[in-house]
Amino acid sequence: MEWGHVIESLRRLRSEDPSYSEGEVLGSMTVDPPEYLLEAFKIFANTNLNDPEMFRVTRSLEVESVRWLSKLFYGYGHGFLTYGGTESNITALYILRELTGGEIVIAPKSAHFSIRKACKILRLHLVEVGLGSDYYPDLSTMCELIKKYRDRLVAVVLTAGTTELGIVEPVDELVETCSDVDYVVHVDAAYGGLLAQVLRDGDVRYPVFDFRVDKVYTLSVDLHKLVAPAPCGAILLRSGELEELATFDAPYMPSGKQRTLLGTRSGGVAAVAWAVTQVLGVEGLKELARELRARALYLSRRLREIGVDVIREPELPIVTFKVPNRDRIIKALWSRKLYIYPTSIPGALRVVVGSHVTYEVADRLVNSLRELLG
Ligand SMILES: Cc1ncc(COP(=O)(O)O)c(C=O)c1O
Repeated sequence: MEWGHVIESLRRLRSEDPSYSEGEVLGSMTVDPPEYLLEAFKIFANTNLNDPEMFRVTRSLEVESVRWLSKLFYGYGHGFLTYGGTESNITALYILRELTGGEIVIAPKSAHFSIRKACKILRLHLVEVGLGSDYYPDLSTMCELIKKYRDRLVAVVLTAGTTELGIVEPVDELVETCSDVDYVVHVDAAYGGLLAQVLRDGDVRYPVFDFRVDKVYTLSVDLHKLVAPAPCGAILLRSGELEELATFDAPYMPSGKQRTLLGTRSGGVAAVAWAVTQVLGVEGLKELARELRARALYLSRRLREIGVDVIREPELPIVTFKVPNRDRIIKALWSRKLYIYPTSIPGALRVVVGSHVTYEVADRLVNSLRELLG
């Protein structure tokens, strides 16, 4: 087929999947990236981040982006860009397994399923901690488990911005209350890290979950959950020694070494991350985060007005609420092209408020729910 026809076919096919601009994507954490980031990706799409001797400039974009992100989280400039939260979480637990020689990971039930996936791949045993009625992890049980498994522990995992409720889990409090034992913490801030870190100095108070907490050794953060085209994430590390643990022999590469768990990594990822730091910077991200949070508060207020049980006031732009006959409601919303997700909380569903979820989209959802709930 002639390429013009192929592109035309692809455009037509794409229109059959849910649209961001029409406000149809409500459950996914993916976003509709601005044109300049797609352009940034394109310029570096044909370079390989994992061939840093040849593609030196590409590598320098990664170094600068990681430094920028690391500074935002009070780190020391160490880490890698990744293809997202799953790769970052697997990498973190791999590095920490190599560091500690342990075999056990402790995480609350709120952890993203990529943590369970990572444990399976790395043959680690995951010990899950329950959540209280406020959906926060039970820190005293967590501390007892840390003490019980101290000699075999790889890491404790907490999430800054849980996938279902957007809760920033109390990393600082855990480390304060569970201080007389040696362990390290991996923070999965894939979704909420950027949001919480830039909103922190506004009217919202979040627990400290960054490298200022001395037991935090690794931190996942994604740009593609807020603004960038996927894939675009990072795993930030406390030290260069940890970077070495994810550096492997690669005999035919010019340096004889290769970083990260992947092989070829598109240079487009570095170009996108770098462009975000240059165009948006902290102030741009803050403006975006404030706007998304304001929309989430609006949606939660409107849902309450029609009698829907919103589980908690959104800290981050995720709105989770309960409805009777949840599965029937989800089906009905999907048939209206409002693609919302269920949660593991019984009877609940949630909206991730990305920049395509406007006030009008929120109104459309509320109006549909009002009709469906009768
Ligand atoms: C907290 C958290 N961690 C990790 C991930 C996995 O990210 P990805 O799908 O980019 O691999 C997600 C995805 O929603 C998430 O919410």
